[in-house]
Formats: sequence, structure tokens, C-alpha cells
Amino acid sequence: MKIAVTSVSGQLGSSIARQLMKTIGKDHLVGIARTPEKAQHLDIEVRKGDNNSREQFNNSLVGIDAVLLVSGMDAPDKRIEQHRNIIEAAKQNKVAKIVYTSIIGAEKGSAFSPIVQSNRQTESDIKNSGLNYVIGRNGIYIEPDLEYIETYVKDGEIRNSAGIGKCTYTSRKALAIAYTKMLTEEKHNGNTYNLVGEAITQEELADYINTVYDTNLSYRAISINAYTKERQKALGEFLGTVIGGIYESMHNGAYDVKSDYQKVAGVPHPRALELIKAYKTTSN
Ligand SMILES: NC(=O)c1ccc[n+]([C@@H]2O[C@H](COP(=O)([O-])OP(=O)(O)OC[C@H]3O[C@@H](n4cnc5c(N)ncnc54)[C@H](OP(=O)(O)O)[C@@H]3O)[C@@H](O)[C@H]2O)c1
Repeated sequence: MKIAVTSVSGQLGSSIARQLMKTIGKDHLVGIARTPEKAQHLDIEVRKGDNNSREQFNNSLVGIDAVLLVSGMDAPDKRIEQHRNIIEAAKQNKVAKIVYTSIIGAEKGSAFSPIVQSNRQTESDIKNSGLNYVIGRNGIYIEPDLEYIETYVKDGEIRNSAGIGKCTYTSRKALAIAYTKMLTEEKHNGNTYNLVGEAITQEELADYINTVYDTNLSYRAISINAYTKERQKALGEFLGTVIGGIYESMHNGAYDVKSDYQKVAGVPHPRALELIKAYKTTSN
């Protein structure tokens, strides 16, 4: 039995690989990375796999029974083709099962919708592949928000366009527990799961950060347009639009979805306050 994890050099891929090791052991785990050197610290077999190269995946999926496809980072249209390289290589190698890290959100109504559409297209490609599959629709990671704490403290506030829209934050560590079950347990085959935590507002997020970090942040809502422009100036056109679109989606209620996490992981999703405490402990 061999399970492969793509983009294993990244934060989600490596977190899932570490959790999988505890269940199946290193000998049954293969990492796949565009930049294998970046995954050496995991001390597992790492094969080369750039999502743009069908040929590399034809080779890296040899002898693999199940593969975790971590969704890509490129522009939506490019992602669809990259994911198809992996799906087709899995078919060619008779990989029995494919598990995909998709995303929650709406296919229409925000600047983030094109990315959701591309994820839904890959979901559909996987369902049509004839392979056994499980799809996880990930909630928004809380870690990137918490990486901004210094900026929030400097500004004295969390400022974005979510308003009273709720977000069902998760963490890469919580996701790793769920994906390990989805990869190793047959009972999940054929399912699509929302892997999300409790729904909180940005005001609640500020309160929880204040509790854990002893800060005095408040929350201020600004318009969708103003926030997207601010992010585009700070992060560039593509990433700024993506981040602006995420908060636009939050504003629209697109992330306030029912969670399947406990059904999958066998344990409740950690509460938002616990996610923040855990982040503080590991980043110290
Ligand atoms: N739910 C959320 O809130 C959220 C937030 C951000 C992203 N995401 C999605 O979740 C995925 C994983 O997130 P993460 O936290 O692990 O991101 P990350 O730490 O930035 O890692 C990104 C990974 O993607 C790999 N990658 C990029 N382009 C590639 C290509 N052409 N071929 C093969 N690998 C490629 C990188 O490889 P190198 O080491 O070679 O660069 C790296 O391993 C992202 O790709 C994105 O689709 C979700």
C-alpha cells in the first residue's frame, strides 16, 4: 500500500504527510513536489512532480494506490489543466483512489468565484475519471489571518469588507486529520465533504485574538471596493483580487456552510479560540 501526497513541499501537503506518517508509517508514504529539495526535511521518499508536466506525474505515480491532489496556486484556467495532468496520470497508472483538496464558496457573485469554479471543474473531472474519489471542500485557513497580527496591532484594528458575514475558519492541522481518514478509510469513497469549523464574524475573531494575545483590536468594516483596492496595492493585481474576493465572499455569506468535519475526522473540529491558541503555541 502506497499513498502519494502532491505539493508535499507546501504547508498543507507537509502537514497532511506528517499526519499520514502516524497512521501508515513512512515506508507507505511518497511525497511529490515540484521542488523535491524543499521536502527533504520530511525524511520520506520524494518524487518530482510539477503540475504542468503530465510526464513527470506519469513517472511519479508509478506503484501508487491512492493520491492526494493538493489544489494548485495558478490562475483558474491554468489550474484546471494542471489538475488534469495529475488525474490522467493517475488513470494511466491505475491508481485506485484520488482525494482532492477543493474549497468552499460560491461559483458566482464574487471576485473569488473564478477560483471556486475552477475547483468545481476539477471536482467534476475527478468524478468522471472512473477512479474512487473523495473530495474535501476546505474552509478558509485561519493561519494567514494570524500571520497578520503585527499589522493588526500596528493599525489597532482588523479592517476588511466581511462586515457581519461569518467565516467557518479551519487550520491546516485540522485538515490533515480529516484528509488522513479520507485517504485511508474506504467508507469515505464517493463523498464530498465541507471541512470547516464554527462560523464566526470578524468582530468575534478580533475578540478571540484579544483574548489569546492580550491585544486591544477592534473590527472595522469597509466597502468591498475599497478593501480590494487596498489589497491590490499591497499584494499586486492577482493576489489582491483573490484576497479581496475572499472577504467579498465572506460578506455574502458564502462561507457560512454546514460542517461535515466530525463525520470525517471522528472528532469535533477545534473551536476558533482553540485554533488561535494552537497557532500561538506553535509559532512561539
Ligand atoms: N483554504 C484556504 O484558505 C487556502 C488558502 C491558500 C491556498 N489554498 C489552496 O490550498 C493549496 C495548498 O495551500 P498551502 O498552504 O500548502 O500553500 P503553500 O504553503 O504556499 O504551498 C504551495 C504548494 O504548491 C506547490 N506548487 C505551486 N505551483 C506548483 C506547480 N506548478 N507544480 C507543483 N507544485 C506547485 C508549491 O511547490 P514549491 O515548493 O515548489 O513552490 C508548494 O508545495 C494552495 O495551493 C491553494 O490552492 C487554500
